[in-house]
Amino acid sequence: MKRLEGKSALVTGSARGIGRSFAQAYVNEGATVAIADINLERARATAAELGPNAYAVEMDVTDQASIDDAIAAVISQTGKLDILINNAALFDLAPIVDITRDSFQRLFSINVAGTLFTLQAAARQMIRQGNGGKIINMASQAGRRGEALVGVYCATKAAVISLTQSAGLDLIKHGINVNAIAPGVVDGEHWDGVDAMFAQYENRPLGEKKRLVGQEVPFGRMGTADDLTGMAIFLASSESEYVVAQTYNVDGGNWMS
Ligand SMILES: NC(=O)c1ccc[n+]([C@@H]2O[C@H](COP(=O)([O-])OP(=O)(O)OC[C@H]3O[C@@H](n4cnc5c(N)ncnc54)[C@H](O)[C@@H]3O)[C@@H](O)[C@H]2O)c1
Repeated sequence: MKRLEGKSALVTGSARGIGRSFAQAYVNEGATVAIADINLERARATAAELGPNAYAVEMDVTDQASIDDAIAAVISQTGKLDILINNAALFDLAPIVDITRDSFQRLFSINVAGTLFTLQAAARQMIRQGNGGKIINMASQAGRRGEALVGVYCATKAAVISLTQSAGLDLIKHGINVNAIAPGVVDGEHWDGVDAMFAQYENRPLGEKKRLVGQEVPFGRMGTADDLTGMAIFLASSESEYVVAQTYNVDGGNWMS
């Protein structure tokens, strides 16, 4: 039996990468999924690849009007919103003495404010509907600890873990489960960019950082986006009704908490 049959889901930043895999997994489980992304062209291509139960929505999570429009588009398409994954995020890397205000503001605007205000808009819609809902935030192992070159991104993901706790505690009275997933290192276009940044700051050949972080994972390799889909389905399904305000590590054993 499909575990998300008839559900309506919105996945931010799902034109590519992990969000795309989540959208694919939800479609496979019977949901209708909004591929919501700032890159509309790529969102359209992804939606077309995923078939008739996926549709593209242009969305910039840093813009309140765009968040409201995206929720409205989901309601107009499916009549309801059952599941939100706050997946859109940006990464940056710099030694502490080189961090710029621009980088700080961009990352907090997308990763933290984007997560909070999309969660808020989705929660308001779910409360109006009166049937509860599921909200999943994308944290990271980076939110569990500091990293010398990754100060701002780590701080944004620690904030996502904290917001997941507060929102989880506040919204469960409406039957809305808020939880988070903390991946480790997940191969894909995102990590190609991260690898290139480390190559520059640590003076390494391209590809070396990726190889090293993969070797260090207790499981023995980097993760793939598909490694995360089981947890994303669980947290969106009725099986996780009693799971509240948690952040789950899905990282091959990189972090224990
Ligand atoms: N890849 C990893 O190793 C890793 C590890 C831990 C956590 N994560 C988290 O998982 C999530 C997905 O990561 P990914 O690797 O697939 O990233 P990605 O960079 O491949 O995809 C991010 C998507 O978000 C979209 N986006 C960017 N800004 C946006 C905005 N303002 N509004 C809407 N969409 C926007 C991009 O167009 C892109 O499609 C992120 O929250 C990331 O922090 C990733």
